[in-house]
Amino acid sequence: IREELGSLHGIPLYKSFVEGWPQVEAFQARPDDLVIATYPKSGTTWLSEILDMIYHDGDVEKCRRDAIFNRVPFLEMKAPGMPSGVEQLEKTPSPRLGKTHLPVQLLPTSFQDKDCKVIYMARNPKDVVISYYYFYQMAKMHPDPGTLGEFLETFMAGKVAYGSWYKHVQGWWEKRQEKRLLYLFYEDMKKDPRQEVQKILRFLGKEVAEETVARILHHTSFQEMRKNPAANYETMPASLMDHGLSPFLRKGIAGDWKNHFTVAQNERFDQHYQQHMAGSDLSFQME
Ligand code: A3P
Repeated sequence: IREELGSLHGIPLYKSFVEGWPQVEAFQARPDDLVIATYPKSGTTWLSEILDMIYHDGDVEKCRRDAIFNRVPFLEMKAPGMPSGVEQLEKTPSPRLGKTHLPVQLLPTSFQDKDCKVIYMARNPKDVVISYYYFYQMAKMHPDPGTLGEFLETFMAGKVAYGSWYKHVQGWWEKRQEKRLLYLFYEDMKKDPRQEVQKILRFLGKEVAEETVARILHHTSFQEMRKNPAANYETMPASLMDHGLSPFLRKGIAGDWKNHFTVAQNERFDQHYQQHMAGSDLSFQME
């Protein structure tokens, strides 16, 4: 089922998603919807599990009711023989959680009109590209990624699904004043998950008992999520995702790029990064 990517307003994207775009563009948000927005491989699933736990007051059993990709529908997802993300969201009772990888300029306008809250999570691009490389291999809707060296070039050129990482993280960063937007970093979440969960709770205006926070942190740790069939994507059909090639929850660390980049690839990537982040006050922790 590997297929070349199509294009959505100049952004490389799976062809089936492009076909489903009219329904996404016309999506009707509700004021209490919460949007989880990320560039792919930046901790979307982790943040989704944390939010579903918060929304269910730390009830682990309720958060096992279904797979994470059904508990937190994927807005722009459309695939043959499956309910689309829009269809799933329409059936979801409020308050709804939804995830998207759309760049900020493509977020359906209804979210802005209804003044919905958004939580964005960004991750350093070196770990994103490594995570994406393994994901391209295991998730069969992607084109063949080629060698890591080839994939690095494709990524830097913004020719992977969802396009330029640089434009994505900067686009959302620049909009954070205009929207009710909380901008988080994967590396901060790794370093001090309690502090980041507290930030989320403040943003949502929720008060939660300390023992509930502890339960949320435990349940959403990499080790717990990795063995949880409702969080680790193992219930996806093997024809779509081959966990034998690489598990969805692969390593879950910051700095794994060091085990993959050659010195030359790192120098080239750094140079490209400097050029494309010049003038931005957004900065990343690479390890
Ligand atoms: P790695 O491939 O580096 O391991 P997304 O959900 O946006 O697709 O991101 C997937 C990445 O987030 C994977 O990175 C995955 O392991 C990591 N991840 C998922 N759950 C995590 C957790 N609880 N703690 C740390 N990393 C997690």
